Parts: sequence; structure tokens; C-alpha cells
Amino acid sequence: MTSLTISNELKTSAKSQKIEALINSEPKRLSNFCKEIGDLVFDFSKSNISQSQLDMMIDFAKSKKVEEIRAKMFDGDAINLTENRAVLHFALRNPKREWNAKGAPQSEKMRQDMEIASSFAQKIYDGSIKTKYGAPFKNIIHIGIGGSDLGPRLVYEALKPFNHNGPQIRFCANIEPTEFRYAIDGLDPKETLVVCVSKTFTTIETLTNLNLAREWLQAGIGKDDMAHLVAISAAPDKAMAQGFAQDRIFGFEEWVGGRYSLWSSVGLSLEMAFGRKFMEELRDGARLMDEHFESAPIAENIPFLGGLIGYWNRAVLDYESRAIIPYAARLKLLPQFLQQLDMESNGKAVSRDGGDVKYSGPVVWGAEGTNAQHAFFQHLHQSPIVTPLEFILILDDGLEYDASRQLTLANALAQSEGLMRGKSLEAVSQEMRAKGASEEEIKNIAPHRVFSGNRPNIVTLLQKLDAFNFGALLAFYEHRCFVEGILFDINSYDQWGVELGKVIALEINQDIENGPSEKRDLATKNLIEIIRKGK
Ligand code: F6P
Repeated sequence: MTSLTISNELKTSAKSQKIEALINSEPKRLSNFCKEIGDLVFDFSKSNISQSQLDMMIDFAKSKKVEEIRAKMFDGDAINLTENRAVLHFALRNPKREWNAKGAPQSEKMRQDMEIASSFAQKIYDGSIKTKYGAPFKNIIHIGIGGSDLGPRLVYEALKPFNHNGPQIRFCANIEPTEFRYAIDGLDPKETLVVCVSKTFTTIETLTNLNLAREWLQAGIGKDDMAHLVAISAAPDKAMAQGFAQDRIFGFEEWVGGRYSLWSSVGLSLEMAFGRKFMEELRDGARLMDEHFESAPIAENIPFLGGLIGYWNRAVLDYESRAIIPYAARLKLLPQFLQQLDMESNGKAVSRDGGDVKYSGPVVWGAEGTNAQHAFFQHLHQSPIVTPLEFILILDDGLEYDASRQLTLANALAQSEGLMRGKSLEAVSQEMRAKGASEEEIKNIAPHRVFSGNRPNIVTLLQKLDAFNFGALLAFYEHRCFVEGILFDINSYDQWGVELGKVIALEINQDIENGPSEKRDLATKNLIEIIRKGK
């Protein structure tokens, strides 16, 4: 087994090799780096890693015991070490299988919980559970933040154009009150169901918005607002303490992490809006990826390949961020969803055994193409800071605008090729000369028009953006995140880094009320005083 030593020599030689030369010289490049599953194609061939380097990475993954830890995860061992929890969100995508968490059987209860939640959602969808006034619900306000918001919101925005038969959903995450205001805008409380989603049921943003929503509901339908409220939580007792009726609380298990919770009752609003079949298809698509991830050998395994290349980009090529560019307006929230998934999971400095990590996960950002081309692609093409890109393309968008779709796809491939190939000074000079530019002009202008190229990118193609394919795509990202986490030697399943700010925010809230306490730093004290004056 060749172990991976990330030496300066390796870094230098990897940075100087040319992606296009690898594609042209490696006979099996396309079959080894371009993989299909169902209706999805993942093309990793424009990555700056050679076949022999990939083989080295495969050995490295084996030496890091990624396969063994994967097996432990699927067996329900407590791989979330700091919280002593199993990680089993994918069990929700295969409820027929017998699953254990820390040795205790889970499937029967999981199946019962899913059935209860799903039949409730179905009745909201078909209108048989009614408002206080005996009519079907027309609207849902989904209150939740982070993992209790981003997944459902992404799926809703991505798939509503072709699936929407139930009530419309408005999302309300931010504690900044404009979002609540937008959420209720034009809605009648008499026709609206409020779905409050919080794994812990302690999150200040969610509880604050819940209070606003209840005031709004009660102003419209009277004090008895229970028929218009649903709670979703892994801490049902806390929801009960907030006054929710027991049969309106839908639980899920602690082994579902917040950012992996779309598949649990956290996704129930989607089922209310789109129906049961839709959720089944979303989970079935994800299960296709789960089964592949669990069983395929590393060299064929799509989430593994994604993770090995992700680690290579970060640790060997020193690229500190990755940009997600879906060429689909319907996927414009995908970068945000992946930000939480990757950055909350792998943005850490402490290794799984409590030491220091050498490398942690990249910054994730992005926006939809083609809009992004006219915003930040300048930087992606010509800045000395290299950012690997991930393009997501939809081949059949179900719309009749063939020319627009073709141009969308052409733009995505153009960026993918252009970023890799670049354009040399010689090519630019020749082009200018052919157009009649003087040698003086060429000398002055040509350098500005050079593209250094060799910028890695991954292209993912979905035949159609439907529930099944989207489920498979999201499961790919989840499993890639796991692989990268193990390679970085990080526990991907806790998020202690968000706690500090939560504690200070509560203190400062008091300070704004009563005046800054002595423990505040001088700069913050000054800002608190300014805020107090403006109150
Ligand atoms: O603060 C971070 C976080 O804990 C996320 O991990 C989670 O998705 C989000 O807050 C919301 O938490 P909850 O579902 O418990 O309200």
C-alpha cells in the first residue's frame, strides 16, 4: 500500500501538472473518472489528479479506515464520538431494513413514527384534516432554522413547479423580523397551518418566530389555535411544554443530525405540500445512492471519488474553497444547503481523537449559473486564487424552451472547458494580431486577456430534476461529506462551533435592555450604547 505523504514536492508537482494533459494521456481517464448511477452522471475527469495519484488516495483512504468506519456507521455504532450518538439518517430512506443504534433495534419504532407522521401529512395534503372552519389548509408556515429549514426549503424551491398540489409553503427561519413579515404577507390565519420544526426545541430563532406566529394566529382565529399548529422535534417533551397537542407532535431520533434531517419528519411540510408519493421518491433516490455508497469498491464509488478528490484539492493543491454552480434557477439554494452540510460538518480544528487536524474542509459558496458568470466568474477565471468548481446541469427541465435550455447547457460546458484550458499569451496575441491590433497594443493589452487555466471542476448531470434524482444527488453530498470528514480526521456530526455565539447573544440581549455589563469588550460596549440610543 502506497501511503500518502503530503510533501512540498508532491504539492509542487501536482500543482504543475496539466489537467488536459492527464485527460489526453490517460487511456482510461473517462471511464475511471466519469461515473453513472441511475439518471445521474458525475464527471470528475477535469480534476487535477492523475490516475496514479488517485490510486495513492485510494490506499490512503484504506489506511484511514474509511471503509471500516463506513461499516460502523451503517451498523449504528456511535461514530459521532463527542455526542456519543449513532449516525443513521439514511435509515429513514430504507425503513424496511433492520437498523440498530448503539446495539438497540430502531426499525420498528421508526416505521411506526414514519407511518403516523406520513398519514397525518397525507391528510393535510388531500384536505381531510381541516382548519377550525372546516376547510382544507391553503398555506403552511414552516418555522425552523439551519437543518430544520435549509433542506425542506431547497427541495420545495427545486421541485414545486411540477409537484405542487397541496398547500403552499412559506418558510420562516431568520429571527430578523422581516422574514416573519414576508412569511405571513397576504396569508389568512384561518387558512394557515404553522409547522414548527426544531430538533432540540430550544433554538431561540425558532421559538421567537413561533411566538410571533401564535400571536398572529390567535389574532385571526382566537385563543384556541391548536388545530392550526404542528410541532416536529426530537425532543417532544419540550414541544409539549410549549402547549402543542400530543397528536400534533411528530418526533425523530437523536441519530438524525440537524443538517441530515430532511429525510425525517423535518421534511413533513414537503409531504403536506407534495404528497406521500413524492417523499417516497425522494427517499428512494437517496437510497439508490446509499446502497451504491455502502457496497461499491472505492474506485467505482461515486461519493468516495468525490471525497478523495475533495481532500486532494484541499490538502495537496491547497485550494481553500469550492464553488457550487447549479445551472438551474430552481437549484439556487443548493450552495446554501451545501454550505451548512460541509462547513458545519467539516469546519473544525480538532481531530477525532482530540488532537489538532492538519487540514479541514473548504469554504463552500456559489450561486446559480448563468447569473454567476456575470458576477464572480472573473475571479474564478483570472484570480491567482484558484477555486475548484462544481457544476450541476439538468438535461431535461420539462419546459418547452429548447433553445434557452441548450444555451444553458452550452454555457456550463463552456465554463468547464474554459476554466480547465485557459488561454495562453501566445493565443491571445495571435488573435489580436489577426484582428489588426498593433504590436504595441498587443504588448499592453494581451496580458490582461490571458487565462492561466488548469482550474479543476466537476460536472454533474441529472437527466431530470425530479424527486428521485434529487434525492440521489443530495445523498451523494452527504456521503462525500462523510468521506472527507474521515480523511480530514474530523467528527463530521457535531457542531460545537455554533454554541459560543448563542450564549453571548443571550447576554448581549440583556445588555441592550439594561446597559452593557462590565464583562463586555470596549468595542462591543460602544456598539451596545449606540443601539440603546437608537431604541
Ligand atoms: O446552531 C446550529 C444548529 O444546531 C444546526 O446544527 C441545526 O440544524 C440548527 O441549529 C437548528 O437546530 P434545531 O433544529 O434544534 O432548532
